[in-house]
Amino acid sequence: MKQELLSQLESRKAKIGIIGLGYVGLPLVLRFGEEGFKVIGFDVDPQKVTKLNAGESYIRHIDGGRLKSLVSAKAFEATADFARLGEADCVIICVPTPLTEKKDPDLQYIEKTGDALVKTLRKGQLISLESTTYPGTTDEVLLEKFKPTGLEVGKDYFLVFSPEREDPGNPKFSTRTIPKIVGGTTPACLDVGRALYSSVIDRVVTVSSTRAAELVKLLENIYRCVNIALVNELKILTDKMDIDIWEVIAAASTKPFGFTPFYPGPGLGGHCIPIDPFYLSWKAKEYDFSTRFIQLAGEVNSAIPHYVVERLTSALNDKGKAVRGSRILMLGVAYKKDVDDVRESPALEIMELLQDKGAVLTYSDPYIPRLHKMRKHDFSHMSSAPLTEELMKKHDAVLITTDHTGIDYQWLVTHSPLVVDTRNATREVRLGREKIVRA
Ligand SMILES: NC(=O)c1ccc[n+]([C@@H]2O[C@H](COP(=O)([O-])OP(=O)(O)OC[C@H]3O[C@@H](n4cnc5c(N)ncnc54)[C@H](O)[C@@H]3O)[C@@H](O)[C@H]2O)c1
Repeated sequence: MKQELLSQLESRKAKIGIIGLGYVGLPLVLRFGEEGFKVIGFDVDPQKVTKLNAGESYIRHIDGGRLKSLVSAKAFEATADFARLGEADCVIICVPTPLTEKKDPDLQYIEKTGDALVKTLRKGQLISLESTTYPGTTDEVLLEKFKPTGLEVGKDYFLVFSPEREDPGNPKFSTRTIPKIVGGTTPACLDVGRALYSSVIDRVVTVSSTRAAELVKLLENIYRCVNIALVNELKILTDKMDIDIWEVIAAASTKPFGFTPFYPGPGLGGHCIPIDPFYLSWKAKEYDFSTRFIQLAGEVNSAIPHYVVERLTSALNDKGKAVRGSRILMLGVAYKKDVDDVRESPALEIMELLQDKGAVLTYSDPYIPRLHKMRKHDFSHMSSAPLTEELMKKHDAVLITTDHTGIDYQWLVTHSPLVVDTRNATREVRLGREKIVRA
């Protein structure tokens, strides 16, 4: 089985199935498709399936033209029919792994995928889980689900974990050039996993188990979460001390070794950094272990939106205004610059706090034309207002929550009565600096 699959991969005759056609799944569709593999994509959302089959992308940074070429060449099709999973020789799982209300791992999407796969699992298939999760998931959830098939892992079929490392909107790296970690359930699984990814990715790094591979991803994200919390905390202190934290970070970054810069902001955002660390905290409880750094970082980071609101409140107060009734223009609601993604965006948290205090809110974000109902927030009545001089003038304050490129911040400051900047987006502004408050 192993040799057969290896030679199918080598000759690019292996068919690749990708489950979950989102921010992670679609770049993989493009990568495998453009390397000459036939790709079949699976998603539970029929609207996405229809769009993708028409060669249309629904994610801004994923080029619809590239998808269209693959669809026309019959190299890619999307389907919601999971009975077809058996057609794929290698199946890559990229479904969501959010948290429940109580911040416990919500594995329902992986569970459902496992339930679908067990019906079609056959000899000669490789299953690779890419969704971020706690160490043990691949073996404890998927391997367990596959046992009743009677198929032997490492002999009849192969199972690996390979964490996704997409950085949407980062032009410096692509799916091909970001090294890929792989861990297998058995050595044979690892061989096949390595062969799968080596056929489309420049550098594949193997580790000794699926659990190690699962933890690699969590370590990467916890490292970011903890360091962002550190600079966020220091930002509050340096504001009190009247020291510019951004200047300090820039200067410290000149050290050629031993220092990696992290930057403060309006709070932690995105689908990974605020969520993934809790996957490890949850698992650690099984070992009577408390992950204190994660806990502390979570506390510091989740207090930041409140701090931003405090800074805005006091800046308005200095102008004799209350938050209640003040018109606040939120500049940027995406969780980071130049992406069309609002998942876990701190801007939404801040909007919630300001709304509770009676502020009148408007937002402007060229990447997010309208807001939809989400798990925690519902601003579905709001759509983006074009950023104009009139718009800025008729607000009491502009709150910069996302520093999208392409905005003339000098122009913004000139035409705004007050600018509260959480991203140091106004660092180059020379005129009207007295109107800027850092938060
Ligand atoms: N977006 C990133 O940059 C990034 C980076 C690293 C890791 N991850 C991880 O990758 C995983 C996927 O994240 P994403 O950002 O691509 O999510 P996403 O929401 O963009 O995409 C997930 C897709 O899966 C579909 N889906 C949901 N349940 C399904 C099911 N049972 N079967 C098939 N499809 C299903 C959804 O409709 C959606 O299209 C998560 O575990 C995430 O933590 C994401």
